[in-house]
Amino acid sequence: MKKILLTLLLSSMTISGFSQGNVYKQGSGKFEGLAMTPPMGWNSWNTFETNIDEKLVKETADIMVSTGMAAAGYNYIVLDDGWMAKERDANGNLVPDPIKFPSGMKSLIDYVHSKGLKFGLYNCAGTKTCAGYPGTRGYEYQDARFYANLGIDFLKYDWCNTAGINAPEAYATMSNALKTAGKPIIFSLCEWGDTQVWNWGKPIGNLWRISGDIYPCFDCEFYHKEGNWSSWGVMKIAEMRKDIRKFSGPDHWNDFDMMEVGNGMTIAEDRAHFAMWCMLASPLIAGNDFRKMSKETLAILTNKELIAVNQDKLGIQGFKLSAEDGLEVWVKPLSDGNWAITFLNRTDAPKKINYDWKKNPIKDADFGFEADFNKTTFKIKNLWKNKEAGTTKKNFTADLASHDVITLRLIP
Ligand code: GLA
Repeated sequence: MKKILLTLLLSSMTISGFSQGNVYKQGSGKFEGLAMTPPMGWNSWNTFETNIDEKLVKETADIMVSTGMAAAGYNYIVLDDGWMAKERDANGNLVPDPIKFPSGMKSLIDYVHSKGLKFGLYNCAGTKTCAGYPGTRGYEYQDARFYANLGIDFLKYDWCNTAGINAPEAYATMSNALKTAGKPIIFSLCEWGDTQVWNWGKPIGNLWRISGDIYPCFDCEFYHKEGNWSSWGVMKIAEMRKDIRKFSGPDHWNDFDMMEVGNGMTIAEDRAHFAMWCMLASPLIAGNDFRKMSKETLAILTNKELIAVNQDKLGIQGFKLSAEDGLEVWVKPLSDGNWAITFLNRTDAPKKINYDWKKNPIKDADFGFEADFNKTTFKIKNLWKNKEAGTTKKNFTADLASHDVITLRLIP
């Protein structure tokens, strides 16, 4: 009798999807629809690393609202590595660092929520986080309940200290754990593209890092001798992966990493960095110190026209159309037949642009969009100047400084 029951059970499991071998096919999967446009917010890591505390978070939340960042769309405050005590408690629960967060994590989260913002935390699929705090391996369901009870809205899940684990399985397990805990939480995968997350991440998470860590330089590689790894300048990241744009879209974004706008590059470079993240439909997660933000940095981060390019509901990642002597042209199809187009000067010298639209039709083979300027005339809007700039009947002419960008919207 036992044997018959077991056979019946096994065959019903096969019907319900176990035969696929995919844990996430059990009818759980990620929380759908939480990130239909690229998430926007702030993350503590780029500036503060593990030097974080409740005062910083509250001040950042206050400034997010008072400066108009929140109104521009930035609404997630994410604490990265370093928010935990070094050990779990006797019951195996994670412990927020009581010195950094003396009022407790719950009251901090309530504060952030009271400002109309959302809150995120960080952990790691390995035994320890990258900075050496307790990792989630073996505690997935317990940690998911912990986050659900705190009421967080976003979880970044890293990939350090994971020797011997299978990435799709590890991320699927945590995704299932979050779903089982029941509180809708954006799941941000951070395996750096090591196992080509874009091939398997869509049912599991809402966004995924495609590269190693960003570094606040235009085009450098910064080598960390102690750990034998590199972080990457913004242009290196923008071009690191080929042919992955077709894997990105609403609720499953290629994530080009938290931004370095306001962290030491020139204003032109910050503008270029921001324009590229908008063109690439990357999540826009600021990584600067809001308490010391210059008005130029704020103006870049809150440029409504650029943000509209990033947040366009089609959710298509842009691509490089052409490059000639270091003058690049990037394009992104937008809803209603619009296009965003960015001229990017990669060189150390200024460039003159004289762009003949009619000789440069656009064809997006991945998503099937085209613009032929011989057939259709587009009105042009310069998005950095917020000004009309003629039509595609005439050549577009402009001077472009070194490492700077001009971004246009073409309207049919
Ligand atoms: C990794 C991630 C970073 C950051 C740190 C924290 O390097 O890629 O974004 O989260 O870990 O230790």
